[in-house]
This record gives sequence, structure tokens and C-alpha cells, in this order.
Amino acid sequence: MTENSKTEETKTKDTKMKETKETKETKESVLKDLIEGGFPFLEQKILDCQKCALCETVTNKVISKGSKTPVVVFIGEAPGKNEDETGIPFCGKAGKLLDKYIDYMELKPTDWAVINTLKCRPPDNRTPTKKEIEICRPFLIAQLSLLNPKIIILLGNTAEKAFGETLGWGEVKKIQMGDGLQTIDVLKIYHPAAMIYQRSREAEQYAFLDRWKCLWEE
Ligand code: URA
Repeated sequence: MTENSKTEETKTKDTKMKETKETKETKESVLKDLIEGGFPFLEQKILDCQKCALCETVTNKVISKGSKTPVVVFIGEAPGKNEDETGIPFCGKAGKLLDKYIDYMELKPTDWAVINTLKCRPPDNRTPTKKEIEICRPFLIAQLSLLNPKIIILLGNTAEKAFGETLGWGEVKKIQMGDGLQTIDVLKIYHPAAMIYQRSREAEQYAFLDRWKCLWEE
């Protein structure tokens, strides 16, 4: 390798590092603005978002339901057909099952909130892509930061992907939401939609809730 090409290589590396640092700083400042703006600002930003193609095919963006000061936040995957039509998360069949878990956990209406990893329905309910999850992530983290729950319950694998962590089913991990943000207990359970077709796992699902109830009970 010549001295010249070495210098070029070092320059490219420096440029890349600078870009990565700038991207990180931009992402942090976007997130900071979303959090500082509070719920109405954040919700308007979600409604206005055109950062991926999903906004072109939605009927309604789906933001949240439940308390604004919850103990528990459930995170689903993305709106389905019913949610897209109404703008309300988990309002179909899977939602009925989620309601059953909420009752089983003896949560009061002020104790829980439900949000999704993506705010827009992917066409034909396909699984969200890595890119879509990444683009929507600041909204998710800002929502969590503002809701500030004691525990987050991930409903399935897509919600887990947004945190870049691997959890086993029924496992709890302490996860920091981002630089300078809260550290919250995160539990991963089966997605209610998956349970509709896998009733054999129901006992296991309720055992997860029994095992960790100390995290949401006073
Ligand atoms: N499944 C989800 O993940 N979210 C909803 O809102 C509805 C079904």
C-alpha cells in the first residue's frame, strides 16, 4: 500500500466516523425534541410523518390507548385491519385476548397503556421490516419516555426488535431507553394474535404473568 492510498483510507475512515457521530447526534436531538414537546406535539409528528411508504396506504395512523400515566405499557407489532379502520390499537380479536390478560393482571384503567412498534399498518398485515422499525423507533421511545411506566411488556418478536435486545419468552431484562433516558424492566410474552392459533401455550402465557406480577402490583 502506498503512502497516498493509506492517507485516502484514513480520510475515508475519518469521514465515516464523522458521519456516524453526526447521525447519532441528529437522532438524539430529534428524540429530545419529541420528548420535550409532550404528547400533543409527539402525536402531531406521528400524524404528519411521511418517512416511509406505509403512510401512503394507511386509513388512520394508530397511536395509543389507555392511561397517560400507566404502570404497565404493552407494545404490539403494528396496526391490523380493524386498527387501521378505527385508529385504535388492539380493537379486534387479538385485542379481546389482550383485554383478558389485563383483567387477569388485575390492572385498573389508569394502570395500563397499549402502543405499537409501528404506527401505520403494513399492507396485508405483513411483518414490519427492519427499516420500518428503525424509522418508527423514535416515536416509540418518545412515547415510552413520556408514559414512563414501571414495566414494559413486549408482545412478541417485533416489539423486541425495536430494542435491539434478545429476550427469552417470559424473561425480564432491565433496558435503558437511550442516552440519558430511563432504565425500565422489560418482559417479553407471546403476542395475543399468535395465541389465537396456539391455545396450547395459554398456560405458559399465564404462568409468565403469575411469575412477574410483583413488577406491577403495589
Ligand atoms: N396486533 C398488533 O400488534 N397491534 C394491534 O394494534 C393489533 C393487532
